[in-house]
Amino acid sequence: MPDWGPFGLTGKNAVVTGGAMGIGFGIARRFIEAGANVVIGDVNGNAAEEAARKLQGGPGKVVAMTADVSDVGAGPALVERCVAAFGSLDIFVNNAGIYPMVPMLEMTPELFDRVYQINLRGLAFCAKAAAARMIAQGTGGKIINIASIDSLHPSMVGLAAYDASKGGVLMFTKNFALEVAPHGILVNAIAPGGIATEGGMRSSDLTPEAQQQITAEFARQIPLGRMGVPDDIGKVAVFLASSAADYITGALIVVDGGRLLK
Ligand SMILES: NC(=O)c1ccc[n+]([C@@H]2O[C@H](COP(=O)([O-])OP(=O)(O)OC[C@H]3O[C@@H](n4cnc5c(N)ncnc54)[C@H](O)[C@@H]3O)[C@@H](O)[C@H]2O)c1
Repeated sequence: MPDWGPFGLTGKNAVVTGGAMGIGFGIARRFIEAGANVVIGDVNGNAAEEAARKLQGGPGKVVAMTADVSDVGAGPALVERCVAAFGSLDIFVNNAGIYPMVPMLEMTPELFDRVYQINLRGLAFCAKAAAARMIAQGTGGKIINIASIDSLHPSMVGLAAYDASKGGVLMFTKNFALEVAPHGILVNAIAPGGIATEGGMRSSDLTPEAQQQITAEFARQIPLGRMGVPDDIGKVAVFLASSAADYITGALIVVDGGRLLK
C-alpha cells in the first residue's frame, strides 16, 4: 500500500451519503484507497450494494446501506451502522443531493420542499447525528458537505430551489463549524463546478447527442477546458478528511476548473 503521509486515512471510519454513484462514489473510492473503512448510504439500495461490490478488495473495507436522507432517522441509522461495522465514526460526507431543473415560475411547493428536505434539512440532520457521535466518542472528527458553485453564483435558469438549498448548505457549514469547533469537529464544504455524473445525464429529457453538445458548450466556459470528473472531488475530499486539513474549518473549497472566474 502506498504511503499517503498526512493524507492517509488508515484506521478512520466514514459514511458517504449518496455514495452509490457520481461524486459520492468517487469520494468513497478514494477514501477506501487511502485506507478508510466506508459505509455507502444511498436511497437506491441496489446501486449501493453494487457500488460496495465494486469497491471490495481495497485497503479499506466497505459496506452498503439503504438510507434516504430526507428521513431524519437516516443520519442516526447511518452513524449506528458505521459504528457497528467498524467501531467508530470519524468522517461523515453529506453528498446526497438532487437537482431537478424546473424554473421557479413552474415550481410546486411539493418539489421545492423535496429539494430542501434532501439537500439542506437532510444534510443538517445527518451532520447533527454525526457530531453527536463524535462528541460522545471524544475523538473529534470531520464533516464534509457537498455544496456547489451555485452556493455562490447561479449557473443557469431552472435551479432557483436548488441554488437556495445550496446557499443554505454554505451558511449551515459555517455556523455548524463554529458550534462544534470546541469539540474538535471540523466542518467544511466542497463546491463542485460541472462534474460529469450519472445524475447530470439523467436530469434532462434531451437526446444523448443534444446532451453531449450542451456539455461541450459548458466545457468551453471552463478555463481548464474540460468538465470535472467525480475523482476531482474525491481527491479534495480525502484532503479535507485527512490530518493535512487539521487547521481548516468552516471553509468552502471551490473545485470548478476555474468556472467561477468567468
Ligand atoms: N454533478 C455536478 O455537476 C454537481 C455540481 C455541483 C454540486 N453537485 C452536488 O454533488 C452531489 C452529488 O451529485 P451527483 O452529480 O454525483 O449526483 P448523482 O445523481 O449522479 O448521484 C447522487 C446519488 O445520491 C443518491 N441520492 C439521491 N437522493 C438521495 C436521498 N434522498 N438519500 C440518499 N441518497 C440519495 C442517488 O441515488 C445517487 O446515488 C449533490 O449534492 C449535487 O448537488 C453536483
